Amino acid sequence: MILRTVNLTKNFGGLMAVDHVNLEVEEGAVHSIIGPNGAGKTTFFNILTGEISPTEGEVFFQEKKITGLKPHQVAQMRIGRSFQLNSLFKNLTVLENLRLAAHSQHPGHFNFLKDFRSFTSPVGQARKVLEEMEMTPIAAKKAGELSHAGQRTLEVAIALAGNPLLLLLDEPTSGMSPEETIRMIRLIKKIAKQRAMVVIEHNMKLVWSISSVITVLHQGQVIATGPPSQIEKNAEVRKAYLGGDAE
Ligand SMILES: Nc1ncnc2c1ncn2[C@@H]1O[C@H](COP(=O)(O)OP(=O)(O)OP(=O)(O)O)[C@@H](O)[C@H]1O
Ligand SMILES: [Mg+2]
Repeated sequence: MILRTVNLTKNFGGLMAVDHVNLEVEEGAVHSIIGPNGAGKTTFFNILTGEISPTEGEVFFQEKKITGLKPHQVAQMRIGRSFQLNSLFKNLTVLENLRLAAHSQHPGHFNFLKDFRSFTSPVGQARKVLEEMEMTPIAAKKAGELSHAGQRTLEVAIALAGNPLLLLLDEPTSGMSPEETIRMIRLIKKIAKQRAMVVIEHNMKLVWSISSVITVLHQGQVIATGPPSQIEKNAEVRKAYLGGDAE
């Protein structure tokens, strides 16, 4: 188990955005979270990464309690996250964005004697991510000059720059064309081989093709968790979310 939440809850002045969520993410899993708009998906991520504190409940990463850590401390535990909305430095190049992200993940100063064998420099790490995300040809382009899909891809790359053990992606294909979505699915499948992932998605094609486990959130509560084959058949899920059409 890489991640575990216990009764995780966020109450926004009476609105139960996240309501006693118990979620377990296995090592190596691609665990998708689906649910209608306002179900609490992004709020759940915001608690995991320390952007907001829960009203109640705990988060364990590799069985260490991380509830209440600040976002940079969570990042240093090697939990990477991409945001639903754009979070790029648009005037910097793709490579510069990645270098900054990789640099910010290295706590403290580089200790040559201690670290020189295991240390990957921010530049080295940025180049590795460029390769993995197939962005080397556009390394020198300004982030703001990329297409929408290019910017979304860069956001996933930035989340990878800290070499995370767990990667959290919030709607990685939003606003993409069918072709761009197919490319993103391929990239996600590739990067999932190296780490566990939790993916929030509305695109059912993507969810069905990448997930080992799917959790369905509805009004802050988990209404189902299981492999895709099981979720597809779940009557409550179809009623609440899939509208009887699980395509
Ligand atoms: N900072 C906040 N203060 C008050 N209410 C909030 C706050 N953030 C989110 N909410 C509310 O909490 C609920 C859950 O929102 P959240 O953004 O987590 O949903 P979501 O599942 O990510 O939706 P979407 O699919 O539209 O991205 C919504 O009703 C939202 O309006
Ligand atoms: Mg959201």
